[in-house]
Amino acid sequence: MKIDEVKQIGVLGGGVMGGGIAQIMAVAGFTVVVRDLNDEIIEATRDAIFESKWGMKRAVEVGKMPFDTCVEAMQRVSFTTDVRGLADCDVVIEAVPEKLDLKQRVFAELDEIVKPEAIFASNTSGFVIEEIAKDVLESRKQQFAGMHFFNPVPVMKTCEVIYTPQTSQETVDTLKAVAEKARKSVPIVKDMPGTYGFIVNRIFAAARREADKLVDDGIASKEDIDAAMIGGRNWPVGFYGQRGGIGKQW
Ligand SMILES: NC(=O)c1ccc[n+]([C@@H]2O[C@H](COP(=O)([O-])OP(=O)(O)OC[C@H]3O[C@@H](n4cnc5c(N)ncnc54)[C@H](O)[C@@H]3O)[C@@H](O)[C@H]2O)c1
Repeated sequence: MKIDEVKQIGVLGGGVMGGGIAQIMAVAGFTVVVRDLNDEIIEATRDAIFESKWGMKRAVEVGKMPFDTCVEAMQRVSFTTDVRGLADCDVVIEAVPEKLDLKQRVFAELDEIVKPEAIFASNTSGFVIEEIAKDVLESRKQQFAGMHFFNPVPVMKTCEVIYTPQTSQETVDTLKAVAEKARKSVPIVKDMPGTYGFIVNRIFAAARREADKLVDDGIASKEDIDAAMIGGRNWPVGFYGQRGGIGKQW
């Protein structure tokens, strides 16, 4: 499927990441269907997209989004608790919790329901994409990739696209174009068995391990490590002074 054919995007799981992904895709002009488990969660997702700190209403209030764009984007988002609501989507982005067996299961289910030409993408933080795709039909595997957004999605500027040995170039090109339409920069990453994390999370984890070692060995204090990296490398924040972080929308 080429980018011009992508009209409708399905988001599986409307949590911290799924809500943000739905929001940016609607603003980018796609029709979006979000599937989650029950009406209460869906209400929370709708609220997050509209009312939260990074939601559209605030973007309008602070002058970052025209009012009409916000209204039109909200009209493009719909919600469902029935996975069959994703059947006609051109791209489905999965953002359910980080459990490998759950991701394998939901993709196997989607594979039976969603039209055969649709592209599937997982927003896993780091599982091997080929393993997530293990239970979909061989024919779908060329349309299966990773699409790793960062939290908070409406703010962070990168989306890693991860390809497996089976992923077609057309799929990579289309997902890159989808993310670019949503105003993200898109590094392309090769899926690698035996690893966890792609570019950002692997490098972040390696640096964090080194920083912890400096603390444990009594070489420098947490405060001085933060100050050194902020002042010496122009990092916006250090490891230890960060408030919130993953899952807490900073
Ligand atoms: N939170 C982050 O900072 C962050 C950043 C990048 C990537 N990720 C990855 O994104 C994914 C989602 O993380 P999150 O933080 O948004 O989690 P979350 O717990 O906020 O949201 C997950 C949502 O999936 C729903 N869900 C569970 N099973 C489902 C099913 N079968 N069908 C549909 N919906 C289902 C849950 O009800 C929940 O609303 C994970 O793989 C995570 O590793 C998270």
